[in-house]
Amino acid sequence: MKNQTAKHTVLSGIRATGRLHLGNYLGAVKGMLELQDQPEYRTLYMVADLHTLTTPYQVAELRQNRREVLIDYLAAGLDPEKSILFLQADVNEHAELAYYFSSVTTVAKMQHLPTFKDKVKQYPEHVTMALLNYPVLMAADILIYKADSVPVGVDQEPHIEVAREIARRMNQDYGTAFPEPQRFVTPGGYVPSLTGEGKMSKSVEGSYIRLTDTLDEIRKKVRAVPTATTAGGAMPAGVEALFTFLELLAPEQVAAFKTAFDDGSLRFSELKDAVAEAIFAEVEPIQRRRAELEANPDYVNQVIANGAEQARAIAQATIREVREKMGF
Ligand code: TRP
Repeated sequence: MKNQTAKHTVLSGIRATGRLHLGNYLGAVKGMLELQDQPEYRTLYMVADLHTLTTPYQVAELRQNRREVLIDYLAAGLDPEKSILFLQADVNEHAELAYYFSSVTTVAKMQHLPTFKDKVKQYPEHVTMALLNYPVLMAADILIYKADSVPVGVDQEPHIEVAREIARRMNQDYGTAFPEPQRFVTPGGYVPSLTGEGKMSKSVEGSYIRLTDTLDEIRKKVRAVPTATTAGGAMPAGVEALFTFLELLAPEQVAAFKTAFDDGSLRFSELKDAVAEAIFAEVEPIQRRRAELEANPDYVNQVIANGAEQARAIAQATIREVREKMGF
């Protein structure tokens, strides 16, 4: 493990609401992969399973999904030799630190966050303390490892801001030494939906591609992206989405298609098939590695146990310091 010489600590996580899709992979996992190979970053990547409790969930599904997401991480190339890979709920200290942090966080501040308001609209019958506390738990995830860099999408910026505010308050009031974490911007930060509206999301049917989709399934979904009947002129959102995928996955092909679009000779079916093939070329090796991992549950169990042990060692040191400074 490279962490002895690292200057920065990186923490990131994805909620365990289901298997990862292409949006998670391009938007989050690719940035995580890039950072784990850089010696100046010590990298910790978790499955945010505690955060799953903030919206309605099924116990049996959570039990399975927290493991599935970790397998997706491994299949995508996150490497336990380079990064600490773990399940959030395996490290009790996150919940403990979140409780301490909740004492320096006002209810009013949490109620005003756009992410909170969105969820209230989505689940008006399920506005719980856990939901209100979502950003506080996220701050604990980050600060318990004194992480200063957080690779997440732009929609998470308000949560990183909350983590900074909590760090400042704790340092001021209790003399702790938390860093003020920054969002680490990665190229795939915005992955558009296949519907041509908004971002790729598991909760919008027809918007996303599964990492397990076959070339045929991918082709079918990409061919369904709404494009204009005539080329040229202002670029419709669906076409823009197709170009975004090309830029992320096959940048060398962008110029030729762009020229064709501008002079009106572009055939959308050709652009779509190029996008579908570029997507499949990216997910196919992940699918192969996943099949190997599924055949080797003992290895996966060992990764999960080792990751929890390594994460806990760091988290416990922070908790000791915080408890002492807070008067316990
Ligand atoms: N809120 C993040 C998301 O929805 C998931 C998350 C939970 C997270 N804890 C985190 C991301 C800590 C980064 C760091 O994407």
